[in-house]
Amino acid sequence: MSQSSPTKHKSDSSNIPKVRDSWGSRIGIIMAVAGSAVGLGNFLRFPVQAAQNGGGAFMVPYILAMLLLGIPLAWVEWTMGRYGGQHEHGGGPGVFHRLTKGRPWAKYLGIITIFIPLCITFYYVYIETWTLSFAFFSVSGSYQEAVAAHEMDKFLAGFTGQEVNHYFDGPWTAIMMFAIVFALNYFVLHKGISGGIEKLSKIGMPILFVCGIVLAIRVLTLGTPNAEHPDWNVNNALGFMWNPDWSRLDEAKVWIAAAGQIFFTLSVGMGCIMTYASYLKAKDDVALSGLTATTANEFAEVVLGGSIAVVASAVFFGVAGAQQIAQQGSFNLGFVTMPYIFAQMGGEGIVGFIWFILLFIAGITSSVSLIEPLITFLKDELKMSRQKALAVTGVINLIITGFIILTIQHGTLDEMDFWAGSVLPVVSGLIMVLIFNVYLGIDKGWDEMHHGALIKIPPIYKFIIRFVTPAYLILLLLFWAYQEWWPIATMQGVDADRAYWMSITRFVMTGFFILLVYWVWKADKQGRFHKFGKERS
Ligand code: ALA
Repeated sequence: MSQSSPTKHKSDSSNIPKVRDSWGSRIGIIMAVAGSAVGLGNFLRFPVQAAQNGGGAFMVPYILAMLLLGIPLAWVEWTMGRYGGQHEHGGGPGVFHRLTKGRPWAKYLGIITIFIPLCITFYYVYIETWTLSFAFFSVSGSYQEAVAAHEMDKFLAGFTGQEVNHYFDGPWTAIMMFAIVFALNYFVLHKGISGGIEKLSKIGMPILFVCGIVLAIRVLTLGTPNAEHPDWNVNNALGFMWNPDWSRLDEAKVWIAAAGQIFFTLSVGMGCIMTYASYLKAKDDVALSGLTATTANEFAEVVLGGSIAVVASAVFFGVAGAQQIAQQGSFNLGFVTMPYIFAQMGGEGIVGFIWFILLFIAGITSSVSLIEPLITFLKDELKMSRQKALAVTGVINLIITGFIILTIQHGTLDEMDFWAGSVLPVVSGLIMVLIFNVYLGIDKGWDEMHHGALIKIPPIYKFIIRFVTPAYLILLLLFWAYQEWWPIATMQGVDADRAYWMSITRFVMTGFFILLVYWVWKADKQGRFHKFGKERS
């Protein structure tokens, strides 16, 4: 154990402030991790994925991915994060360096856990902007004319600046609202871990659950609202959402979609949990906390997320209509279809406001968790004050989100989401579990996981973490590489304009990655990474 004992508060560098911020209470960290997990993915991404990939049958690969990937990786990430925090490292570079006892490549590999959440941030905060804007539009009645004219798609396109029309003359409203949402995020982060993120989560999460429960009850008690279409009713809508189409389980794509959804929704493999857990105290529980946060997320996703948007679509547009809506994707469902539904439900201003505020709270409690890993890295490894780290992160965020806002019509947001939201978390999850198994060692890792634990994790999970999770992840990546890698890398079948902007997006992401490599290199030169010398062997 010696140097790497997790329980010792030992700094890797003499001039880092000795006291890191910490969570105020156990419920606070659970709310914060649940807040990170419960996001736009639960209410927009999940129902569309389930409806597109076999309905109830989707739940088979989904539950398997949750049990064999999501939950074990969450425990691994919580454990690695708390371990790193004891040595004053809250980001992947420092945590991996420490866990591998100073292997020179490890700190560079750890960059992935900062790169992913920030790339997601670059577009996520913008979508969050839409949610707050639409909450205001609901009460001000701004989209009623578009609803009446069946032009909500035009309204959204005008709002996001994808076209100039009589609803909006450019993306200026969106840009102004972005400034507000951006400021709110950085205000919370400026207040720190317990004073900012924890407070936001403790206030926001109960409100989110109340809004979600109210909406789910409203949708499930709609009955048969359209007398002309007696088959457009709640029973059939639930059947559409949940009746299993077992034949879909033969498709690798369905299994990959389910695993991707688990990663996205639980925020695993993204580095957020690791950073949050680094602010735990040495004896704080990770086992029950990890499980509780996961359970809260699954309630929000399956019970609430699975009962609202797609079910309401099938009640008001019939199963065939809902099928089409699901094919058009999450944004269409959330921002185009839902306002029509609210108009038919009655009380549209209030119901619309509840829906969009629910999305906004889900969004902001996730986005602060996506931004924090870079702030923590800059603070821990480059000796920046929290305020300076916030400023540096904020400038990068503004520049790259600005790029997304101005080029969204060319598919730049989708391109960034594809890499950061779908592919890379699986790669990062694999790296995490391998470092956990190989360098910390499964026995020591298991003990570390149970240090201060309030429950005993079923012993089968020792086997799962050691063999099943890595094998499952390798299989997924191989399948994906076999089926999709080459056409995607070479942008086959993509028109010239889109291919051009996809390349620019990849260039921007690469530029950000190189900046992170430079920072890790600089931190290393400044002696921030403890040398292990002989102790390593
Ligand atoms: N876990 C977050 C979500 O579901 C990122 O939106």
